[in-house]
Amino acid sequence: MNDILGRLEAKRAAARAGGGARRIEVQHRRGKLTARERLELLLDPDSFEEWDMFVEHRSHDFGIDEHKIPGDGVVTGYGTVNGRLVFVFSQDFTVFGGSLSEAHAEKMCKIMDQAINVGAPVIGLNDSGGARIQDGVASLAGYAEVFERNVLASGVVPQVSLIMGPCAGGAVYSPAMTDFIFMVKDTSYMFVTGPEVVKTVTHEAVTQEELGGALTHTTRSGIADLAFANDVEALIELRRFIDFLPASNRARPPQRPTTDPRDRVEPSLDTLVPSNPNRPYDMKELIEKVVDDGDFFEIQPDFARNIVVGFARMEGSTIGIVANQPMVLAGCLDIDSSRKAARFVRFCDCFNIPIVTFVDVPGFLPGTAQEHGAIIKHGAKLLFAFAEATVPKVTLITRKAYGGAYDVMSSKHLRGDVNFAWPSAEIAVMGPKGAVEIIFRADLGDTAAIEARTEEYRDKFANPFVAASRGFIDDVILPRDTRRRLCRALAMLRGKQLANPWKKHDNIPL
Ligand code: HXC
Repeated sequence: MNDILGRLEAKRAAARAGGGARRIEVQHRRGKLTARERLELLLDPDSFEEWDMFVEHRSHDFGIDEHKIPGDGVVTGYGTVNGRLVFVFSQDFTVFGGSLSEAHAEKMCKIMDQAINVGAPVIGLNDSGGARIQDGVASLAGYAEVFERNVLASGVVPQVSLIMGPCAGGAVYSPAMTDFIFMVKDTSYMFVTGPEVVKTVTHEAVTQEELGGALTHTTRSGIADLAFANDVEALIELRRFIDFLPASNRARPPQRPTTDPRDRVEPSLDTLVPSNPNRPYDMKELIEKVVDDGDFFEIQPDFARNIVVGFARMEGSTIGIVANQPMVLAGCLDIDSSRKAARFVRFCDCFNIPIVTFVDVPGFLPGTAQEHGAIIKHGAKLLFAFAEATVPKVTLITRKAYGGAYDVMSSKHLRGDVNFAWPSAEIAVMGPKGAVEIIFRADLGDTAAIEARTEEYRDKFANPFVAASRGFIDDVILPRDTRRRLCRALAMLRGKQLANPWKKHDNIPL
């Protein structure tokens, strides 16, 4: 018996040692933690249950059969984050560069299958040189098995990818199909073809960082949602993030006790909207003053900043927020902001998270770049996402809600449950100036007449009461009471049940 126990301990020790002290030291020198150190930070103490520690690869070529490391370059299992169950895989760059063999893929698939069955999030810590070259087509098959599970899990359990090292070639498509991608600055990158191939094919000289680093993907491509300074910060923030998420599409959003009163009055909101309609203000101030304890977890803060999306809580329960940002492009909807918000709305709808929408939108951004870039199709994504969503939808128009953008932004007509406006709201087909220039074109030379018409239009249309008189706005509320009114609306909606007609799946304009 002692013998067997000794063997077990020796095997465990070999697995824990990964690729050995020298490679671990290199990993540390690069500012990266090892796969196991990362899990220690991510999961609650002593909560990790490891699976498949003794799995080894089955390859023979190029002498790899002489090198077998128990666990085969990925640590998998389940544990808890603040007491809530999650499934995890953490790729070990010290073992064959974290590359994915058939056996490595099987380990990932096993925890994904179990996560789907029990209904708990999958968190992937990615640090891998891609398909294990010595494994040949078996490693490509392994990737495809993972991809298939990403798709089957989509909308069933939340999937979060943290990119903590290389992620290149077809390997990027597994994170790409998960719900959120976080990256670590300077040490992680994602691209389909690396700088060398780019140089050969297009003659562009580009560094790994420029091509696919954390800044590139959080500011330009929008592929990643957040970038963090280092592994530790990324893992701590990931823990905070998981706290907002329901465990699955069968679960309600998590509840967290709060001492923030539901009827907290916020008088400063009465003066948030400037009297000059062309002056911007910061929509994030409204968000932070209204949600529990000012705690807002923003997603994609540096991409398409004309729309703000993220998670917060009201009376302890998670909500998703979508808000136009008048500080950037006057809050216009464009291609990037439509895509960003559409994906966020769909995530919330998958996972029973009520959506609160704050509207101040002058319209869609004009220009050839937008039209030729297919704003019609991309704008339709956001429209589609709001229209199909069956979760509770509460909307507040703070100022402008013009044209098609009024319809799109979770209007009453897209089955908005509760639609509020502040007294400063302007809800119409277009702004006063543009409207008068079209309908009174004949008077354009007469400045006084145009001014009088503009004033008349503003009086008539640039207010919330026309919409309210039709019932498109349920109530015009005082800004200072916003938190109380939203909390009540969300509480009333807790039992909401609404189903769309049966279909295999919809055909969202991609
Ligand atoms: C096997 C690999 C490997 C791989 C790295 N290693 N990538 N082993 N298969 N794909 C091994 C190295 O041999 C080395 O082993 C160790 O990992 C660390 O690698 P280094 O090159 O020393 O590290 P570094 O300088 O940091 O460079 C990391 C790297 C580079 C940029 C990831 O290793 C690299 O370019 N690897 C190949 C990447 C690649 O082309 N992968 C295939 C992508 S296509 P020792 O024993 O020396 O420590 C793909 C298809 C997916 O993934 C298809 C899905 C549909």
